[in-house]
Amino acid sequence: MLGVTGGIAAYKSADLVRRLKDTGAEVRVVMTAAATRFVTPLTFQALSGNRVHTQLLDSESEAGMSHIDLARWADALLIAPASANFLARLTYGLADDLLSTLALATDVPIAVAPAMNQQMWANPATQHNVQTLRQRDVLIYGPGQGSQACGEEGMGRMLEPIQLVEQLSSLFETGSMQGVKILVNAGPTYEDIDPVRFIGNRSSGKMGYAIAMAAKEAGAEVTLISGPTSLPPPEKVECINVRSARQMYDAVISQAGGCDIFIAAAAVADFRPKHYESQKIKKQSSPLKTIELEQTDDILTAVSGLKKRPFCVGFAAESDHLDRYAQDKLKSKKLDMIAANWINKKNSGFESDHNALTLYWQTGQLDLPHAPKLQLAQNLISFIAEKYHAQHRVKNS
Ligand code: CTP
Repeated sequence: MLGVTGGIAAYKSADLVRRLKDTGAEVRVVMTAAATRFVTPLTFQALSGNRVHTQLLDSESEAGMSHIDLARWADALLIAPASANFLARLTYGLADDLLSTLALATDVPIAVAPAMNQQMWANPATQHNVQTLRQRDVLIYGPGQGSQACGEEGMGRMLEPIQLVEQLSSLFETGSMQGVKILVNAGPTYEDIDPVRFIGNRSSGKMGYAIAMAAKEAGAEVTLISGPTSLPPPEKVECINVRSARQMYDAVISQAGGCDIFIAAAAVADFRPKHYESQKIKKQSSPLKTIELEQTDDILTAVSGLKKRPFCVGFAAESDHLDRYAQDKLKSKKLDMIAANWINKKNSGFESDHNALTLYWQTGQLDLPHAPKLQLAQNLISFIAEKYHAQHRVKNS
């Protein structure tokens, strides 16, 4: 359940609802009266797919889902943004509107994401309230540092929706990957031609980042090696940023020996320019009408060929013959599993927030249906966990 209180950061909570739903969560939104002056309930209703609750004593809503039913329905209550006023009311146990009453009536974990002017955050009254809430096991997410809507600079910004989702997700860790070290690579690689130009591809890194997050959520120790993307690094994941296929190769090989599972979600360039021009190539320069290319090393094949090799999962993004190409790659790259997807399906694959995968392993295959990438990544991780643990049991028996 998401509680929204009055503050300019309420507009970010609209995105938060979408991202929570991407994890597979069902979201119900409760707004204070002040919150409805910043964003309309209709916005949250459209995004959550559920009626928004605003009134404590409203006969219509009490007849449908009473405040006590709502309190029982939730698995967690996140209040974002949480204003200074709401933190004070929560501290003193007031129950004069629906959200504060729910907070008193529920026994599930409560998390607050404070958002306010930096002076209000620093004020001893607010600090005292936050301290008290912490002692009562209320989780305090943030706030962050930075420029504020009021024009000031300092502590008090609400954390970004993606950070809140990560923190909340950690409450629901499944533990299926507890004690397992997972290496993930993600994103495109850029192969430089000269100081301003490069050969790249359309990978956004979203799938690889979602896999890193899902692996973390499942209790794994995760290292993410990422090509250039615009995504924020996932919380509590070790991130190594690289640019070219060669850099990605070196970074992966240096980590692969120490990991249990390698998931190769990166769209690594297959070719790079044979020569890098250190000066910008001019339009008139005659010898460079064609760029000579050379093949890059295959990272996944190198890892699966290591003496002490991790469980290897590859990806195959194909425009045709998905089944055949994926099975060929499974064999030729000596993989334990490969996740294949179509690149030319609407609302799927590159740049999209959604995807669908078919998993292949030596003795079978499984469809993971179209879903938000984070949800898909969770399903993928739980299936990899199953296969990885089964393989280990066989090895150790
Ligand atoms: N891969 C890799 N290193 C490369 C190229 C690909 O590790 N230099 C990995 C990708 O991360 C992916 C898998 O190999 O997990 C398959 O990548 P893909 O580009 O589909 O296959 P290729 O072997 O490059 O074959 P093709 O481009 O001809 O389909």
